[in-house]
Amino acid sequence: MKDLTATVKSNEKIAENIYMITLSLPEDAGEIHGGQFVNLSTGSGENLLRRPLGVCIANGRDVSVCYQVKGKGTRYLSEVGSGRELQVLLPLGNWFDLEKYKSVAVVGGGVGIFPLIATIREFSGKKDFYSYIGFRNKNAVCLLDELSGSKRLTVTTDDGSYGKKGNAVEAFFSDAENINADAIIACGPPVMLKALKAKLAEEGVKTPCFVSLEERMGCGMGACLVCVCKTSDGGNARVCRDGPVFDITEVQL
Ligand SMILES: Cc1cc2nc3c(=O)[nH]c(=O)nc-3n(C[C@H](O)[C@H](O)[C@H](O)COP(=O)(O)OP(=O)(O)OC[C@H]3O[C@@H](n4cnc5c(N)ncnc54)[C@H](O)[C@@H]3O)c2cc1C
Ligand code: FES
Repeated sequence: MKDLTATVKSNEKIAENIYMITLSLPEDAGEIHGGQFVNLSTGSGENLLRRPLGVCIANGRDVSVCYQVKGKGTRYLSEVGSGRELQVLLPLGNWFDLEKYKSVAVVGGGVGIFPLIATIREFSGKKDFYSYIGFRNKNAVCLLDELSGSKRLTVTTDDGSYGKKGNAVEAFFSDAENINADAIIACGPPVMLKALKAKLAEEGVKTPCFVSLEERMGCGMGACLVCVCKTSDGGNARVCRDGPVFDITEVQL
């Protein structure tokens, strides 16, 4: 893990309220895996805490993350121009470890698609990915090119304005018997992950399923306990250090 002063190479709007920022690092940050995240500075004063964002594209010393403008920190980021310097801690957290799997179902919703894209890129040509990706509506659809390495790509929108009407979990289950995945990876809003967990239990699916969680964070490296989530056995886990990727059976959603 390194704390680096990165230079903003570009910062562009890629969908309604969603931006991709590419940071040029001053030195190699080491291997970055899909599912890992950065903690990025978003100004000073009340924005002093850095914001966690999943790595979407790691290409040599260029690292791109995509973010939805939600509050003060991400609004600040959306106004940062090329050439500006930002402090970035990376790479953080664990990742989707798919070494032993061949055929992988990818279930993603909203801004949860970005770490999944990094994972598809990481294992490009080595795994068969079947992707089920949900957006709110057509204005939120982005980066479909990055998902084109999937053997099958199904896009849904809540209102049917692009792709199939419905959500990513429904799309996955309506196709599950045809693809015979030996692992499932997922990232998306809590309601989506909850629905996925409930449906897997209801259908008695035993396929290993790994989810990346998004909690509010402080330090991003295990010290402050801001990001704690509940585990299935009633214990606690730090999303930043023990995750953000967990076996879906091991966490309460
Ligand atoms: C490991 C990890 C990876 C993430 N990857 C991405 C990503 O690739 N793209 C992306 O757009 N977002 C991602 N997030 C969420 C992102 O960190 C928050 O949206 C961001 O920190 C909000 O900052 P803000 O200052 O704009 O909003 P704030 O002013 O801090 O908050 C605005 C609203 O967002 C909610 N919020 C803040 N942080 C989170 C959070 N972590 N999860 C859910 N809701 C939150 C607050 O409760 C509040 O309602 C990730 C979070 C984690 C933990
Ligand atoms: S954010 Fe500090 S322990 Fe996880």
